[in-house]
Amino acid sequence: MFGEHFITFQGEGSHLNLVGAPVIVGKDDFQGVQIAASLLCKDFAAVTGHQPEYVSYATNTGISCPIDDAIIVGSLQSSLVQNIIRESELAIDDIQGCWEAFFTIVVEKPLQGCKRALMIVGSDKRGAIFGIYTLSEQMGVSPWYWWADVVPTPRSQIFAKQSRTRRGSPSVKYRGIFINDEAPSLTGWVLEKMGTCYGVEFYEKVFELLLRLKANFLWPAMWPGYPNPGNSFFKDDPLNQKTADIWGIVISTSHHEPMQRAMAEWFEENPEGSWSYLKSKEKIQQYFKDGAERAHPYESYITIGMRGDGDRAMAVDDPASVLAEIIKDQRRIIADTYGSADQPRQLLALYKEVQEYFENGLEVPEDVTLLFADDNFGTIRRLPTSDEAERKGRAGGRIWQQLYEAYRRGADQIWVFNVGDIKPLELPLTFSMELAWNVNSIATDDFMTFFKAFADREFSPSISEAVAELLYGYDRLIALRKHEHIESDTFSLLNYSEAENIIADWKSLLDRAQSLYSNVQSVNQPAFFQLVLHPIKASYIYTKLRVGQAKNQLFALQRRNEANVIAQEVLRLFDEDFDLSEEFHHLLGGKWNHMMRQPHYGYRETWHAPSRDMISGLCFVQTRQDSNPISGYMGVAVEGTEGIRPGLTNEESDRTHPSRKDLVPGLTLPTLEPFGQQSRYFEVYRRGTSSLTWHLKTPYDWLIVSPSTGILDDKNNDSRITVKINWLEVPFDFQQTVQIEVSSTVGDYEHVHLPITNRNPPDDSFSGFMESDGSVTIEASSFCRPARNELHASNYQILPFLGRTRSGVVTLSQSVHPMSATNSEFLEYDFWTFSEYPRQAILTIYFTMTLDTSPKDPLCFEIMIDDCSSGSLRLIEDPGITGDLPPGWLLAVQDGVWKKNIDIGEMTRLKKGSHIIKLRIWQQNLLVEKLVLNLGGVRDSYLGPPESTFVSRRQG
Ligand SMILES: *[C@@H]1O[C@H](CO)[C@@H](O)[C@H](O)[C@H]1NC(C)=O
Ligand SMILES: *[C@@H]1O[C@H](CO)[C@@H](O)[C@H](O)[C@H]1NC(C)=O
Repeated sequence: MFGEHFITFQGEGSHLNLVGAPVIVGKDDFQGVQIAASLLCKDFAAVTGHQPEYVSYATNTGISCPIDDAIIVGSLQSSLVQNIIRESELAIDDIQGCWEAFFTIVVEKPLQGCKRALMIVGSDKRGAIFGIYTLSEQMGVSPWYWWADVVPTPRSQIFAKQSRTRRGSPSVKYRGIFINDEAPSLTGWVLEKMGTCYGVEFYEKVFELLLRLKANFLWPAMWPGYPNPGNSFFKDDPLNQKTADIWGIVISTSHHEPMQRAMAEWFEENPEGSWSYLKSKEKIQQYFKDGAERAHPYESYITIGMRGDGDRAMAVDDPASVLAEIIKDQRRIIADTYGSADQPRQLLALYKEVQEYFENGLEVPEDVTLLFADDNFGTIRRLPTSDEAERKGRAGGRIWQQLYEAYRRGADQIWVFNVGDIKPLELPLTFSMELAWNVNSIATDDFMTFFKAFADREFSPSISEAVAELLYGYDRLIALRKHEHIESDTFSLLNYSEAENIIADWKSLLDRAQSLYSNVQSVNQPAFFQLVLHPIKASYIYTKLRVGQAKNQLFALQRRNEANVIAQEVLRLFDEDFDLSEEFHHLLGGKWNHMMRQPHYGYRETWHAPSRDMISGLCFVQTRQDSNPISGYMGVAVEGTEGIRPGLTNEESDRTHPSRKDLVPGLTLPTLEPFGQQSRYFEVYRRGTSSLTWHLKTPYDWLIVSPSTGILDDKNNDSRITVKINWLEVPFDFQQTVQIEVSSTVGDYEHVHLPITNRNPPDDSFSGFMESDGSVTIEASSFCRPARNELHASNYQILPFLGRTRSGVVTLSQSVHPMSATNSEFLEYDFWTFSEYPRQAILTIYFTMTLDTSPKDPLCFEIMIDDCSSGSLRLIEDPGITGDLPPGWLLAVQDGVWKKNIDIGEMTRLKKGSHIIKLRIWQQNLLVEKLVLNLGGVRDSYLGPPESTFVSRRQG
């Protein structure tokens, strides 16, 4: 996607026009190169409407008829390429011996009978293949053209640029995917479209996709179960393994399938046989041997080690020593088969307990690649220490930061991504593969360039800016929390308008996506639907439905008529979700039938997907029934609370009197103050069969309610009233709870209580964040010092596209050496408190979810309040058992953040006035999102309070 273009669509007569030029490939070149060359011809047909001739060139026969212009492709190993290099004296030293590199050049008279050619020359088989697909991509054929129905822009002229270009080698040597959890979606689709199993017809599509993405590595589908005995790449279709090798894909097997055998094979061959090395040693050794021998002719990466039954730890007394023995035996088998114990390449997955054995001294041969796992949520659990990074086998490794961190720490041998069904992960997989190819291709502060490049490639440049904005907006919203962990009560319905704001953000994104969708050309709509509209719409529906469930429950407790309306809306969204999946399935005559079949709702019981969608807990009120007369027809609910006591108003008084005593808190709004949130709201609602008119009365002119009167009837069961203050007219020292009277034409009468505190502005010389509502909240990237324009000279950097915040996260610069990190300057945040010696002062720092990846170097930071230091604090508690996940992991990983509480009261007593929070961090894997100082007013919510008001110095 990135890198210099060697073609152009605008040229002059003298330029080499590739349209119509035959594609020439050496007859003795790798079969995989020949396949790529023939697909290149098809790509030309798709772009130009004209399929070029495919010429298979044998040195002894030459080209049969004279041609002017040609495209010559091949590896350095083909005699065609070798001849031309020799005859035309082409320099090749910048790719010779390189891994998967290629160059392009225009050569005059490369062959007898050919005037001119664009040559694409690979250092090896995949170098040539990647070169060929780079040409395809540059002409507009997306790697996803088949997988996401991306239609190239038609071209009538494609010119080769004169200059030589070079590409390679990749940052990560083996890059690829793990097809996993593939039932029911992918499996349903494969069985319908590709015959009876995961055979070569399916895998050729996968191989082609991987190579077009410049990937080279695959852990094939291996899901056990329906249809029994589960998927086996090696057995389902005897051609699979051989074909992978021909195409150029390195086959390996997942973390618990040793020696190039699919787990399903064992169960098929040994329905009774126990998968226990101690009990079935001979049988298992033979099984290993068969795997090694079968893989021998093909390019393979052999997984060694062994886990217990069902991908669990081995159930033996001393699993570590059994594992050591197994590895020794496997090495012997490999040596017997291949003639050497360290050929071919091998990997050991340090997954769960295996990581623990490893930390405790399990010996792993030097050449074996250590594959460090994530926590199933994209957080890398362990990375090489400096010694391990020097290993001959090197180390293989959600996001840019985790990948970049992996690379920076030396995990540059294998990156394998669990992509589930492949669809609909087009964007993240593209992102990962671009980064694996060139880890510097996507800059920390410039993901827009990536989104734009992706949008450019998949759609026409005329809409790519708008598409990039949508993809970016989606990426930011999806980062808040994974859908499967969003429950009805995840986002706060009552505090900080959190749920409402999130829904509004999704809605605005969806509106933009939908309007763009209706404007794109119809040939591009299927791709737009798959890559842009569907994910946004699905997310909107899902989030809205979850919030609707919460609203329905709350409204029902309040006995609102509207509860039933919301219940219907939830059911409508539930159907809309299914309709959307159906729309996906019906697209293009059913091409992607089954792909969205995985249930979306009802994941509570286990990690397994439920069998079908289920939502629970909808509530209804009997709207034909009137409320008890002492409760009245009209209810009032204020921001921040569920209601007086849900369902109950005025129970103890007659209905001409307002709520008193313990009912008052349920009608009290959060405070309004000049440096805080500038509006509050409450709602009046109908809870009976009568229609009514309501009126508001406020005690002061500067207290503005809008609207101040309205009607509740069958057309309108709810009204929201916004409350604001004209501060200029509020008396200087005003501090009082005022009452807003609400009355109705059917006799209801209630008071809404609103605390108002006027505040003196701070000294003119102060700049910083202002306390309001009992808290100070600051986004980490809003530090006051170092100065923004001098950030580059500091130890810190902002990653603007990370985390749950709007403005990104702060971390240590990639270039800071660990030795000097402990002397880093502090990030400083100025703030002002109005509270004098507050009873409570808890600082909560939100850190993006990461894990200690180095056993001896845990993630640490330090806080200072003014001049008092917390000393060094560890972010994550010790797991107890080495290799285990730390306490609190499950919550943190779902939230995407660690929330670290520090009792400031224990460090200092805060006085009214100006203060500084200072923070420094000591590792690159620490990412700070936001700081919340709770002085007693913070309300529960998912994201925490919005950022406090910042005032700037007022003097000259
Ligand atoms: C208001 O509530 C009544 C009674 O439940 C219902 O019939 C009506 O449809 C609701 N109005 C709206 C606009 O939802
Ligand atoms: C709002 O905040 C209050 C105070 O922290 C809390 O008790 C309540 O559960 C929160 N409500 C919601 C819906 O988040």
